[in-house]
Amino acid sequence: MATEHFFEEVGCEDNVLVIGGGTGRFLTQMPPCAGITYVEKSPAMIRKAKTRQVDSTIEFLESDFLTFESSKVFDLVICPFFLDCFNASNLNRAIEVIGDHLPEKGKLIVIDFQPVTRIWLINLMHLFFRVFAALESKRMKNIHHFVIQNRFSEVKEAFFHENMIFSRLYRNL
Ligand SMILES: C[S@@+](CC[C@H](N)C(=O)[O-])C[C@H]1O[C@@H](n2cnc3c(N)ncnc32)[C@H](O)[C@@H]1O
Repeated sequence: MATEHFFEEVGCEDNVLVIGGGTGRFLTQMPPCAGITYVEKSPAMIRKAKTRQVDSTIEFLESDFLTFESSKVFDLVICPFFLDCFNASNLNRAIEVIGDHLPEKGKLIVIDFQPVTRIWLINLMHLFFRVFAALESKRMKNIHHFVIQNRFSEVKEAFFHENMIFSRLYRNL
């Protein structure tokens, strides 16, 4: 599955930041780590995520990531279908905040839509999220371009569901 694809990157001593994890459907697949900070702005999503049986300790924060502040520096950040929520300026802001909480060479995993193939279907899925999750983003963007323009370099990538979904590992420059 796309979200779990790079979970081999999660080290047992890593402090991991998960952003916009929703119901946390992937949490049960995550290998044990030092701790997970789970930033999600929907209280209903957090309630559901808290019911997952997970080996690691999780700190749940009901908060808007765009104003997230923490003294913690994380080893790894995971964004599962989170960055597609934003318009261009808030997308840049979200990536900047991620960079502020990663050390040099810190890892970022992004799983999201790849708007180069079956664009009509991707736009339909995006419309679904826009209506039901009240996304501010009006159309799909090429998230990869935004990430590499904001101090990250790509390490590896994988594609799923006939290339409609990507999972990419980046490092903070
Ligand atoms: C498209 S859903 C993806 C949910 C989940 N990651 C998944 O793959 O099923 C986006 C999630 O990001 C959360 N979200 C959107 N904007 C946010 C923000 N500014 N700060 C924190 N969470 C946010 C939403 O509440 C929602 O749970």
